[in-house]
Amino acid sequence: MADARPFHWEFTPEPVAREVFRIEGGVPLRGNVSISGSKNAALKLFAAATLTGERCRFTNVPEIEDVRVMAETLRDLGVVVDHPQDNVYEIASGDVEWLFVPLEAAAKMRASFILLGPLLARFGRVIISNPGGDRIGRRPVDLHVDAMRSLGAQIDYRNGYYFATAPGRLRGTEIRFPFVSVMSTENAMLAATLAEGQTVIRPAAQEPEVDDLIAFLQRMGADVERTYPDTIEVNGKRRLRGADHEVIADRIEAATFVIAAAVTGGKVTVERAPCDHLGAFVEVVGRTGVDVTCSSDTIEVDGSSLIDPGFRASDIETAPYPGLATDTQSPISVLLTQSNGTSHVHETIFEDRLEWLAELNRMGADARMIDSRHATITGRTPLVGAEVEIGDLRAGASLILAALAAQGTSTIHGAHHVHRGYENIERKFLDLGARIERVAEGTDSTSS
Ligand code: EPU
Repeated sequence: MADARPFHWEFTPEPVAREVFRIEGGVPLRGNVSISGSKNAALKLFAAATLTGERCRFTNVPEIEDVRVMAETLRDLGVVVDHPQDNVYEIASGDVEWLFVPLEAAAKMRASFILLGPLLARFGRVIISNPGGDRIGRRPVDLHVDAMRSLGAQIDYRNGYYFATAPGRLRGTEIRFPFVSVMSTENAMLAATLAEGQTVIRPAAQEPEVDDLIAFLQRMGADVERTYPDTIEVNGKRRLRGADHEVIADRIEAATFVIAAAVTGGKVTVERAPCDHLGAFVEVVGRTGVDVTCSSDTIEVDGSSLIDPGFRASDIETAPYPGLATDTQSPISVLLTQSNGTSHVHETIFEDRLEWLAELNRMGADARMIDSRHATITGRTPLVGAEVEIGDLRAGASLILAALAAQGTSTIHGAHHVHRGYENIERKFLDLGARIERVAEGTDSTSS
């Protein structure tokens, strides 16, 4: 009898190794740290590699769990994914046997949905699971699906799966999104590179990771261009070729280390940082009184004004790029606990992305939720070591920052969330003088 397992109501996620971070805070971080490649660029570049049967080679790929999941998902389709050395991946999608992205992949990582556009455009069909991902709001995919439909795809939704076909070739069209969406822009753009005729995408997301994807697609021979800041035009080609590409640096990881230096009153040089992509973030951090300068690919952060005269409260509002990235909202919130006065936080991108503030309060913060998108943070409150639980990737990294700033020892449960997106995070903090270890839940032994 056929295995009827891949349906939502019968799926039980694989158990993950339960690990905790144990952190003894209160040490000002000092030294240099080097930023890895961007998670949100690398995942889309891997998907783009399926647009051709030829080999693609990526360098500066971060060694993180989400990249590993994407590599496994591609291998399960029959794609050859080689990993010849650290931070280097080679992908050859000549023989794709299974045009099926199962719930197992989607439940681990929402970004698996980025495979919809390229697989549909190249092979004319795909069955792909509705994604899960972080617990930060509803996270629908309707814009992705509508974009494919306007390119001529037929898409049915049954049993938690999208069954997508494109009889003949996809057809170029004008895609008008109701608001800016990063992955919907990328999915539409990927599909349009092999569609017949011209596609215009508006408003197109302006995130640097989207431009990194455009640069790679151009190397593959695609005719794709950002013609206005919010407009991407694509003239579809019959086929694309293999290409090499170095992944851009991760702006969110860089932001995380800037805040780590500030809230511990330390002095850190962040190297290989994408300064051009951090304008709004550096402006906000500077406004609070942290001494931060960013030029070419280096950020110098001096947090010594933490004690005297102290950081200043500042209101923040997240927005699509070039606004303040939602992924920096939680690290900045930690900074605001160490700033004098009341700051207002407005999260405009995702609902429920402020819920983690309850965990921050367990460490001594005074954060109050006004509604699902607004909060106040009143400082400066001394942070104290506590036992807390990570709910998603960015909140997890931010709880580490709070623990580094706190007096005493913190135990942070759910370490696997952080390894989804940060390469060698303990090693990098240890090198800056932090006292941090990752241990198996309920034991004292350090995990490898
Ligand atoms: N949205 C819809 N329908 C859709 C798609 C999105 O309503 O079909 C909504 C979302 O719910 C959200 C808004 O549109 O309210 C914007 O979401 P967007 O589509 O821009 O987010 P995303 O593409 O799913 C990427 C990053 C996120 C990052 C956001 C915003 C990847 C893999 N993820 O998500 O990164 O926060 O853009 O910049 O690129 C992270 O790295 O931790 C992370 C969550």
